[in-house]
This record gives sequence, C-alpha cells and structure tokens, in this order.
Amino acid sequence: MKLFTLTVLLCILHQKIDSANILAICLMPNYSHFNTIHKLVTALVDRNHQVTFINSRLDNTSTINYTNIFVEDVIEFISEINKNLADLASAGPIRNAIHEFYLGLELTEIALKSQPIQKLLNSKESFDAVVLELFYNEAVIGFANHFNASAILVSPLGSSFRSNYLFANPAPASYVPHKLSRFTKSMNFWQRLENFLLTKIIELLREIIFTPKQAQLLKKYINPEYNLEVVLNNISLLLSNSHVSVHSAVPHVPSTVNIGSYLINNSGKLPQDLQTYLDASTDGVILFSLGSNLESKSLAPKERDAILNAFTKIKQNVIWKFEADLSNIPKNVKILKWLPQQDLLAHANTKAFITHGGAASLFEAVYFGVPIIGIPVFGDQNHNIVNAVNDGYAIGIPLMDLKEEKLLWAIQEIVTNPKYRDNVQQRSRIMRDQPSTPVDSGIYWIEHVIRHKGAPHLRSTSLDLKWYHREMIDIITILVTIVTVFLIIFFLLLKKMFTKCDNISKKIKNCIVINKKNN
Ligand SMILES: *[C@@H]1O[C@H](CO)[C@@H](O)[C@H](O)[C@H]1NC(C)=O
Repeated sequence: MKLFTLTVLLCILHQKIDSANILAICLMPNYSHFNTIHKLVTALVDRNHQVTFINSRLDNTSTINYTNIFVEDVIEFISEINKNLADLASAGPIRNAIHEFYLGLELTEIALKSQPIQKLLNSKESFDAVVLELFYNEAVIGFANHFNASAILVSPLGSSFRSNYLFANPAPASYVPHKLSRFTKSMNFWQRLENFLLTKIIELLREIIFTPKQAQLLKKYINPEYNLEVVLNNISLLLSNSHVSVHSAVPHVPSTVNIGSYLINNSGKLPQDLQTYLDASTDGVILFSLGSNLESKSLAPKERDAILNAFTKIKQNVIWKFEADLSNIPKNVKILKWLPQQDLLAHANTKAFITHGGAASLFEAVYFGVPIIGIPVFGDQNHNIVNAVNDGYAIGIPLMDLKEEKLLWAIQEIVTNPKYRDNVQQRSRIMRDQPSTPVDSGIYWIEHVIRHKGAPHLRSTSLDLKWYHREMIDIITILVTIVTVFLIIFFLLLKKMFTKCDNISKKIKNCIVINKKNN
C-alpha cells in the first residue's frame, strides 16, 4: 500500500514537472470552429498537460487533467444567426466583414458576461498559456494578461486580415488577395486596385469602429485597467490552419506557424451500413454537404428542387447532409443528418464533393484527393472556391446561379474529365509530404512558447513600429523632399543662367544693330 501511494505520488509529481496549465477557449458553438480548438485540447490532454476548456458544445465533464467549462448562453444567439446565413450569398465582401465584426462583438459580450466565465475570471486560477480561436474576439485575448499567461491564437482561416496585423505578417495587396474577395493570387491592375481598396477599407472599419468596441468589452468585463493595444501587442504565437497545397505561398514571421491539415483524422472507419452502401456504389458516389454553419434546410425550395432534379439524372449515388426530412427523394439519394465526412471522402468510390468551400472541407477534399463542386455562400468561401477553380480541381457555382442544368453539367464534367482528379491528387501528395504531423508541430510550438516564457524571440520588431515607419513613409517622404528641393534649386539656377544668357545675347544683338546703323 505504501509503495502504491509512493508510485502515485511520484507519478503526480512527475506529471507536475513537465505538464503545463493551459486554458483553451472557443466561444463559437458551430462544429467547424469548436473542432479547431478541441483537436488541440485532446492532444494537449494526451500529453499530460492540465487543460481547462471553455466552450459551448461539451457538458461539464472533467477528468484528472481536464476541466470543461460550458458556456450555454451563446448557443441561442448563434443558432438565430445561422438561420439567415444564406442571405449573405448575395452580399459583397464589405457587408460580409461588417456582419462578422458585429457577430463577433455580440458573441464576445454574451460570453464574457456569462456566469461560468465571470466565475473563472474571479477565481484565483493561473495558467501558463491561453490558447484561443481568433474570431473577432480580441477582448478575450485579455485573459492571457489576467491569468499571467502567454497568448496563443489559432486561426481556422489560415493567415488572413484577422491575424496578419497582430503578428506583422506582410500581406501586400499586390499579390495577397483578401480572404473576403473573389480574387486569386494573380490579379490584373483593376483587381489589384480593388483588392487594395477592400483591404484598406476593412482595416479602417476595424481600427475606427470595432477595435475600440472590443477595447470597451475588455475594460468592462475583464479589467478596467487593461489597454487592448498593449494586449494585442504581446501575443506569442499564431497556429494557422494553412498549407501551401491549398493556400498560395505568402510570407509570415516566425511567430506564425502553419499547421494546415491538422484537422485530418486519417484512421477513421466508416459505420458498417455506409461502408456497404459505398462499396456497392460501383458507379461512384457524390458527397454533398453545405457545412455545419449553414444548414441545407435554409436553401430556398427552388434551389432544393433544382438540386434534386439534377440528381435524378445522374447514375452516381448521392449522400446528402440535410438536417430536415425531405419528401420525394430520388432512389439514388441518401439523406443523412450528419456525415462522417472524412471517412466518406477517403472511400475510393467517392467521385466528387459538393461543398460550400469552408476551409476545413477544402483541406479534407484535397487531403483525400476528391475534386470539388463549390457552392460558396459567405465569408472566405468565395475566395476558397475561386482559388480551387484556379488550381484546377474545382468547378464553382455561386448559390444564386444554382440551376438544374448547371449542376448537372458540373457533375458530368467533374466525374468524366480526369483533369480535376489529377490536379487534386497532386495537391494531396504535397499535403501529405510534411516533416512531422501538423498536430505534433502545433503542440511542439505551444510547449516551446511555454518553455521560453512567451517566446519573445519569435516576435517581429515590426510590431513596435508605427505603420508609417514600417511602410517607410517617413524615409520616402524625406527622400522625395530632398530630391524635389534639389530639382527646384537646379531649375531656378538654370532659369537664372538662361535669363543672363538672354540678356547677354540681347546686348550682343543690340551691339550688332548699333554697329550696322553706324556703318
Ligand atoms: C507579455 O506576455 C508575457 C507572457 O507571454 C508576459 O510575461 C509579459 O508580462 C507580457 N508583457 C506585457 C507588457 O503585458
């Protein structure tokens, strides 16, 4: 018995020594957001770290090194928002941005004033690191300061306008298209102009309207002494869901680490009924899902009928994620409320994936080498699909143009033309060619930040500069002024010389005239 107690004690001590105390936060209840943090939480818990996870999906179960904090208050707000997401399909990038900024503000406030979060804030807890999903919730980064911890952000979008400014990642509008635009990396003059204006307008909206509101939330709910600018200037790490197989090669500073494809689970097995269904689908299967935010039942009846009519005319089977009951379903269509999406994509008979083009779905399609028919709706989805089309493994159909003939053509084209599959499989090989698994890499960098007390050596000095210093506006202004002054002086001298010469030549002329007269 004594020996047992000693062993347990040693184990606990051992665990204490190399395990850190980590607070993970994901306020968005939607699965695609929740999963980006939950995946890391699971890996951290597996490595014996002490993890507290604030989220709005799991109930309050806890284990020896895991505490769950359930925030219920945000769920109703987000499910109301999800009902109207399809309306954003016809909105431009600026309306999309404003929608997301406001959504983030409200979500942040509802969460911050909720009882479980206030309880945690008023506790005597302390953490080594705070790992949170960056989603228009800058005030929440103040948790790091409150708990004397290092701030680590996770970006499901990859590096984007949401995160670049926090880490000083260079993103010139000349070759980095805005995530809310419909541009690819190769832009003509007018596209670059539009991309530049779009980037600047959204930055201004953020700086003038939304960041000050987040600063108020920080003061109101966390600490009246806190200054958001100081909080945002001291973030240790960005784990970015990005990889060159999907996103184009753009620069980033050392505190931004790409762990794109970390959400892939390659070991899953299909449930027996689905396995049998797919094995039997010798003509192939088309997978159809509009993601976890937008529900298929918010499709207009017209769009729904167009889709079903197209499906009656193809020989492939279709698996459609649809959250409501449908009548008059064609024989070759199977409706499921929830899909084991990755395991379905991994099946050899899956020929195409009809998707909204969310970041996670794009990664899954590329990883498993399945070409895409994209029906983008909002946020970064247009950008994702336009790029996948540009990279030759997708066909895009805007939700507003969703007609039976168009969908039918797209399905025939994608299953018969080998180009799409060849391109996506080439990208799949690139995605699988990585030095370590992306989850291991993410955990390594989280631990690195904790070992080195915030890892200030990763931080770019650029963050200490004013924007006009960073863009070298001061230096360019001085140089242009000096050159201009020199040119002015030069021209003035030249002018003086000419008038002198003029005078002299006039005098000479006069002389000649006088001389002539005298003669
Ligand atoms: C910045 O964060 C580190 C932890 O990563 C902390 O030790 C330090 O005090 C913070 N600095 C400021 C100015 O908040």
